[in-house]
Amino acid sequence: MTDARSTNITWHSGSVSRADREKLLGQRGVTLWLTGLSASGKSTIACIVEKMLLDRKKHAYRLDGDNVRHGLNKNLGFSAEERAENIRRIGEVAKLFTDAAVIVIASFISPYRKDRDAVRANLGAGDFVEVYVKVSVEAAERRDPKGLYKKARAGEIKGFTGIDDPYEAPERPEIVIDTENTDPENAARRVLEYLDAHGYLQS
Ligand SMILES: Nc1ncnc2c1ncn2[C@@H]1O[C@H](COP(=O)(O)OP(=O)(O)OP(=O)(O)O)[C@@H](O)[C@H]1O
Ligand SMILES: [Mg+2]
Repeated sequence: MTDARSTNITWHSGSVSRADREKLLGQRGVTLWLTGLSASGKSTIACIVEKMLLDRKKHAYRLDGDNVRHGLNKNLGFSAEERAENIRRIGEVAKLFTDAAVIVIASFISPYRKDRDAVRANLGAGDFVEVYVKVSVEAAERRDPKGLYKKARAGEIKGFTGIDDPYEAPERPEIVIDTENTDPENAARRVLEYLDAHGYLQS
């Protein structure tokens, strides 16, 4: 699915550099990649991070699983191959936003380590910050805000991550948030502290 089929194409560079854009915005482009089980709290935390950044006059933009599947990736399902293609495309979009000096907050279950690592490699060092939004299956199932675990247990959804499809936890994430012991506001604050401490909020 990822085979290159385009031929006779040449990259056309512009006269504005990424550094120019970062200077203009007073921040560094980066992709915050939130990974975790469904109902772990990725979208909840992402929305708070986005608001906190905007309140600090930083330009942030969310890419979110369900939203992207409404449009760009509406033709993809949930097989391992389609999940990989879903993440690959989002990784490319995140890379473009990062080059535009935006702080991208990507929230995707992204259950396979290989797919996340491919995005990390494509973005490059310092441009990809993996945030493991940690929760046990039991706690996620108790939350179940969309009723998805209930449907998966009833056999109405097949291949549901954590039930009958694997979730491979990150091995070396930059940030780990244990959402059974940290509320969403504090989780978002932790992310902002990381960005501050690593110089992303200045150009
Ligand atoms: N500490 C916490 N952090 C985040 N969310 C929490 C926390 N404690 C409870 N919740 C609740 O858990 C639910 C998390 O739902 P949310 O939609 O953010 O999950 P998600 O990871 O985006 O799931 P999905 O992959 O299905 O999109 C919300 O109802 C939220 O209020
Ligand atoms: Mg979500």
